Amino acid sequence: MYDAINSKYTYKGTDVLKNKLGIQDEELLKEYETRMVAFKIATISSAKIPKGYTPERLKFIHKYLFEDIFYFAGEYREENITKGNFRFSQYEYIEENIKRIFKEIDIEQMKKMSFNDFIKKVSYIMTELNVLHPFREGNGRTIRELVREICFDCGYVIDWYEINHDDILSASIKAVIDEKEQIKMLKRSIKKMN
Ligand SMILES: Nc1ncnc2c1ncn2[C@@H]1O[C@H](COP(=O)(O)OP(=O)(O)OP(=O)(O)O)[C@@H](O)[C@H]1O
Ligand SMILES: [Mg+2]
Repeated sequence: MYDAINSKYTYKGTDVLKNKLGIQDEELLKEYETRMVAFKIATISSAKIPKGYTPERLKFIHKYLFEDIFYFAGEYREENITKGNFRFSQYEYIEENIKRIFKEIDIEQMKKMSFNDFIKKVSYIMTELNVLHPFREGNGRTIRELVREICFDCGYVIDWYEINHDDILSASIKAVIDEKEQIKMLKRSIKKMN
């Protein structure tokens, strides 16, 4: 869990994120949040997603998925956070780093890549964005939706719900040091569209 006592994002003395539902029980919030966001994930392809790959697109996705729940939907975090033993990027550097990462997303170039190179690139983007962890909460789902869109634009499909969530999590945690497992997982899950 995030080291969140004393955070401006949480209810006083707890690590429960302040939310529009007014829920102060962590488990109950998780339950509602999971269901509501799953519904938004299922409908986002009919939304007016910005064209092109810029940080605005990532913000849009985050806003769309989380706007019914968190006040900070679509906005970068303004405090430092850790998970397990891992400290994500300093929040002050999010803005410049996200620009750097998105400059490296060139769809036309990715369309021309071999399957293996494409997978490696997707894995790289996922890891960079995870390490940056631009939002206070909801980074995993936002990044996976972005990846789904990148795949789609390059003629591939990925259904994240076909993959065990614990496998996604463990691969992404290891990917900070070694992307082998994440690459293997993506190779199994990304399919050519027909
Ligand atoms: N110890 C860790 N080291 C590096 N990355 C981690 C660690 N623990 C979790 N993560 C990453 O953080 C993501 C979760 O971030 P966050 O809680 O902001 O997003 P989420 O959408 O709520 O979660 P999830 O990805 O579990 O659905 C995970 O998907 C994983 O990639
Ligand atoms: Mg989370």
